[in-house]
Amino acid sequence: MVSEKMYGLGTKKSTIRTIFEFGRKRAAEIGEDNVYDFSIGNPNVPAPAAINKAICDVLQEMDSCAVHGYTVAPGDPVAREAIAKSINRRFGMNFSSKNLFMTSGAAAAITICFKALNEGDDEFIAFAPYFPEYGCFVDSVGGKLVVVPANTSDFQIQFDEFEKLISPKTKAVIVNSPNNPSGVVYSEKTIQRLAAILESKEKEYGHPIFIISDEPYRELVYGGIDVPYLPKYYKNTLVCYSWSKSLSLPGERIGYIAVPDEVTDFGCVYGAIAGAARILTHVNASSLFQRVVARCTDVPSDIAAYEENGNILYNGLVEAGFSCLKPQGAFYLFPKALEDDDYAFCEKAKKYDLLLVPGSDFGCPGYFRAAYCIKKETIERSLSAFKKLAEEYNK
Ligand SMILES: Cc1ncc(COP(=O)(O)O)c(C=O)c1O
Repeated sequence: MVSEKMYGLGTKKSTIRTIFEFGRKRAAEIGEDNVYDFSIGNPNVPAPAAINKAICDVLQEMDSCAVHGYTVAPGDPVAREAIAKSINRRFGMNFSSKNLFMTSGAAAAITICFKALNEGDDEFIAFAPYFPEYGCFVDSVGGKLVVVPANTSDFQIQFDEFEKLISPKTKAVIVNSPNNPSGVVYSEKTIQRLAAILESKEKEYGHPIFIISDEPYRELVYGGIDVPYLPKYYKNTLVCYSWSKSLSLPGERIGYIAVPDEVTDFGCVYGAIAGAARILTHVNASSLFQRVVARCTDVPSDIAAYEENGNILYNGLVEAGFSCLKPQGAFYLFPKALEDDDYAFCEKAKKYDLLLVPGSDFGCPGYFRAAYCIKKETIERSLSAFKKLAEEYNK
């Protein structure tokens, strides 16, 4: 009677959601403060004051029918022009409104790109550890997700494996840096090597291979680390951006796809993006929030709390005996689990009310993700629970 696949997607919750809901139940039983819920990547830093001001200003200054009405499908031209100018200032690009397509966040942007590019049974490559929703997104457009195993030494790209998996069917690779879940930023060396391989494969196969750069965490970086702007390194790059994390607006659903002029057959790619958005019933991104983000393009992200949280958690985990990379960006740590079976490890952690997500969910068994976009005091109090958990393994 209904699509079995859709029923499965709608009723089988993701591990992250299941753990999060378990946390809510547990908090009702033992109190909010006694649950150390590291499960979900929901920003806990309030949106900057400039956002509230921009909302009020837009509502006061603009005609109500325009603010709440449809925009053209690619987005309000004035908003796109303002965003293009900001990108040009920051990254030395030459964008104008025609290079941008406003979307309902990064999830929509990525799915639209997959849909626009897929021509049957094309393959899309992701590098583990990767955002698990890529699997559903690619599947929904009839493509195939191919996963390059993780390089667990530094969570950069494992190029030997990548070269084995890239094939004439590869239509695009999806890159996410700063990365969810590893917290790693891909270095310039990594990006240059990736670009060189793709350029040579494009020549060999005689068709473009795109990079889809998924960058909702671009501004959340610590210690002044530079996040290479991928269109500068590789011409066939589509940038999927979102303000969900950078300005703490995940519920407002606002982002964009940037299509540089240099992309092979620009008009064809932009047209396919518009077509994919149309069939995915996009209509247009939030009309109000297009205007709001256009007024806030240069508002800095408030990263201080995340940086402090990341350091407290990292230092505490290392002291408790965990092995883990120092966070460079986003708001996740991805330490090694204390046994090979990361599901069993995360189950054991629950005994101490530590809610962690198994690395297997991100294509990287033997690790776990801890989202540190939570209260600092909760992280501080959780450290003794991590110690007890580690002691259980040392007995
Ligand atoms: C790597 C990554 N990509 C995309 C998204 C989707 O973000 P948005 O809220 O902009 O759709 C997320 C959300 O957590 C994410 O972590």
